[in-house]
Amino acid sequence: MSKLAVVGCSELVTLAGPARPRTGAEMRDLAIIANGAMLISDGRIESVGTRSEIESGIGNDCVVVDAGNRVVMPGFVDAHTHPVFAGNRANEFELRASGATYAEIAAAGGGIRSTVRQTRAASENDLLSAAQKYISWFLENGTTTIEAKSGYGLRPEDEYKLLRVIGAIQPLRTVPTFLGAHEIPDEFRKNPAKYVDLVVEEMLPEVAAQHLAEYCDIFCEPGIFGIEESRRILTAARSLGLGLRLHADQLSKSGAAVLAAELGAATADHLEHTDALGIAALKTAGVQPVLLPGSVYALGSSRYPDARAMINAGLAVVLATDFNPGSSPTPSMPMILSLASTQMKLTPAEAVTAATINAAYSLRRGDEIGSLEPGKRADFVIHDCRDYREIGYFFGVRHPRSVYIEGKRVV
Ligand code: NIG
Ligand code: FE
Repeated sequence: MSKLAVVGCSELVTLAGPARPRTGAEMRDLAIIANGAMLISDGRIESVGTRSEIESGIGNDCVVVDAGNRVVMPGFVDAHTHPVFAGNRANEFELRASGATYAEIAAAGGGIRSTVRQTRAASENDLLSAAQKYISWFLENGTTTIEAKSGYGLRPEDEYKLLRVIGAIQPLRTVPTFLGAHEIPDEFRKNPAKYVDLVVEEMLPEVAAQHLAEYCDIFCEPGIFGIEESRRILTAARSLGLGLRLHADQLSKSGAAVLAAELGAATADHLEHTDALGIAALKTAGVQPVLLPGSVYALGSSRYPDARAMINAGLAVVLATDFNPGSSPTPSMPMILSLASTQMKLTPAEAVTAATINAAYSLRRGDEIGSLEPGKRADFVIHDCRDYREIGYFFGVRHPRSVYIEGKRVV
């Protein structure tokens, strides 16, 4: 049995609380233990408390990790990422700086379709080594679990290839999502309905049969996949046992948030254009909003989702990076915490809740990760600061000093 004691935590940010996602004022309660300590046994948390409460449990067989009077928190859970792709789109970064919009670049054949062309040409091995570089970025920024989407294959074999690469990622914890309906591929531009048939009749059944994904996602946007096509694809996915997530109301108010509610999706993501009606529908259906301020920032927009209205409505808000080569090329949850507080006026505590325990529940993993409580996996980070609020406050610096997954040091 391997035992670990973590001591010297200026703040042990536990997020202990009810066994469900946190809403309203609960999002401001991080259950911080000053001068905290934690005992870990075989990768799981055995006990948490103040140093003096834990002291008696530190035996000779225990490896002691001294945090040196620094903040210790759960690893971030990033509930929306697109980490497997070939090449990058630095050229589009330059085009947007010169005035082109994301939608114009996409309509001209760039955007997602340009990454698809490069990703189709890449081998599984090449994609895995490209992904490993991004995985190390996630870990270095304090993330220990990501939800990871396919969506740059858009052909049966290429989509399965991406999901297999996601399955091979180590040591970051991953939750796989099938995003075959990310864009209409070049060869179906004249007949997009046929592509929807291919997703429903061939890809989804195969993804489910091979257990390649836990969730199905879709880019629901007029001109890409409209409400009718989205309903058809997601209903098929649901009947195969997949959970649902949607790219909803990102570039326009399409009614996708209301569709997410109608279908009982786990999450509706983006929501930059969602109105009060959409927020009320999400609340009634218990759908969690996943807000992605990195993509708003990187696209040079100022239209952030109305996070305050969502919290006031009682929604269990989640924050994520949306890491991808187009709209949000950042793997950094600390950067997202900064944007959440400066641009969406979340308090630092609300942002941390959204980036850990609420995110874990959105992935059906709230009983295993997202907080530091007895019985949970020991996924935690020692941040090089005394006060957790410094993580979003000092932006553009790397706070994590060491990162642990199941009690094993990975950074
Ligand atoms: O979440 N909007 C659709 N999907 C991604 C962007 C993917 C890309 O541009 O490569 C998003 O913003
Ligand atoms: Fe996305």
